[in-house]
Amino acid sequence: MTSERKMSHLEICRDREVGSKEKSTHLGDVELVHNALPELDFEDMDLSVRVFGKTLSVPVVISAMTGGHPETKKVNANLAKAAKDLGIGMCVGSQRAALENPRLEDSFRVVRKVSSDILVVANMGATQLLSPKVVDSAERAIEMIDADALAVHLNPLQELVQPGGDTRYKGVLSGLSRLAASIKKPIIVKETGCGMSREAAERLVGAGVSAIDVAGAGGTSWAAVEYYNAKLQGDSMKAEVAETLWDWGIPTAMSLCEVSSLGSKVKILASGGIGSGLDMARSIALGADLVGVARPLLIPAFTSPKAVESKLNRMIRELKVASLLTGSRTVKELKTAPVFLKGELLNWVTQRGLGVRSNARG
Ligand SMILES: Cc1cc2nc3c(=O)[nH]c(=O)nc-3n(C[C@H](O)[C@H](O)[C@H](O)COP(=O)(O)O)c2cc1C
Repeated sequence: MTSERKMSHLEICRDREVGSKEKSTHLGDVELVHNALPELDFEDMDLSVRVFGKTLSVPVVISAMTGGHPETKKVNANLAKAAKDLGIGMCVGSQRAALENPRLEDSFRVVRKVSSDILVVANMGATQLLSPKVVDSAERAIEMIDADALAVHLNPLQELVQPGGDTRYKGVLSGLSRLAASIKKPIIVKETGCGMSREAAERLVGAGVSAIDVAGAGGTSWAAVEYYNAKLQGDSMKAEVAETLWDWGIPTAMSLCEVSSLGSKVKILASGGIGSGLDMARSIALGADLVGVARPLLIPAFTSPKAVESKLNRMIRELKVASLLTGSRTVKELKTAPVFLKGELLNWVTQRGLGVRSNARG
C-alpha cells in the first residue's frame, strides 16, 4: 500500500502540473547587491562546505524524493551517481515502505552503493514518531543506507488532504525530543513545501534537532499532488479541499528569514522551488547553509545520471557566478553579502518583526 502510493506520487509529480499556482518563493524579492570590483578570479572560487561529517564541493543536496517501490531503484541510482560525480549530498525519500517490507530495501540501499562516500540523508515521516518503536525504526533507516543524518518530514497539509491520510499530529514534538536524545546521527526536520515559521523552528531547536530544512511554498505543492491523487481515487471532497489549499504555506524566502532570525542555533537548509543557481545564492545570503532541489531533477532522474548532472551543473555555475558578482569567494562570505529586500518579502519581514538581516557586509 505504502509502496504503491509512493509510485503513484512519483508519477503524478513527473506527469502533472503540481507547482504553486499564484504563490512564488519570493526569492525574487532578494536583490544581491552587485559588486563591480570583486577582485576575485573565477578559478579561485571555493564554495565547498563541511557538514554532518562530510565535505561537499558546493552547498547543494538533492532533496528527498524516492525509493520504496522496485521501479524507483533506477531513479535513486541515477540521482546518486550524479550526486557522487558532482560531490554534493543526496537525501532519499521516506523509507517507511522498506521498514514495512524489507524486500524494498534495495531501492534505498542502491544510493549508498552507487554514491560511495558522499553525504547521504535517511528519511522518515512525522507520524512514525508516534510509534513506540520509533527509535528502532530510525536506527534501521540510518543503517539501511549508512546515512550521515536523518531527516524527519512534517507534512500535515498533505496528510489532511490525502485519501486515507494520517490526521494525528499530537505528540510529534515529544517524539522528536526522544529521537534526538536517543540516536547518534544529526536530525534534520523538514517541511515538504509549506515552509517553516520562527515559532515552529524555535520549538524544534528546543527539541534538540541539528538542522531545519524550510522546504517552503512556491515550488512543489503537495496539496496539488493529493488533488490529483484524490481525483484518481474518486474522493471528490478531498480533491476540492486540496484544490482550495493548493497554494497554502510560507514562501521559501519568508521561511528562511523566519528561521534565520533565530541566529545560528541550527544548520538551515533552503528548499522549495529552487529553480536556479541565483535562487541558491539568494537563499545562502538569507542564511541558508545548504540548498536542496527536488522536483526539477525528477524528469532527468528518469533518464540518466548525465541528465541530472547537466541540470545541476547549470545551477552550480549560476551559483558561482552570482557569488563572485557579490565579491564572495566562499560560502561564509556569501552568507554576509549585502542584500536588498523588496516587495512582499520586505513587508513580511517588517510585519513579523524579524528585522532585516543585520550581519551584511557593508
Ligand atoms: C516526487 C517527490 C517525492 C517526494 N517524497 C518525499 C519524501 O518521501 N520525503 C520527504 O521528506 N520529502 C519528499 N518530497 C518533498 C521534497 O523533498 C521537497 O521538500 C519538496 O518537493 C519541495 O522541493 P521542490 O520544490 O524542489 O520540489 C518529495 C518531492 C517530490 C517531488
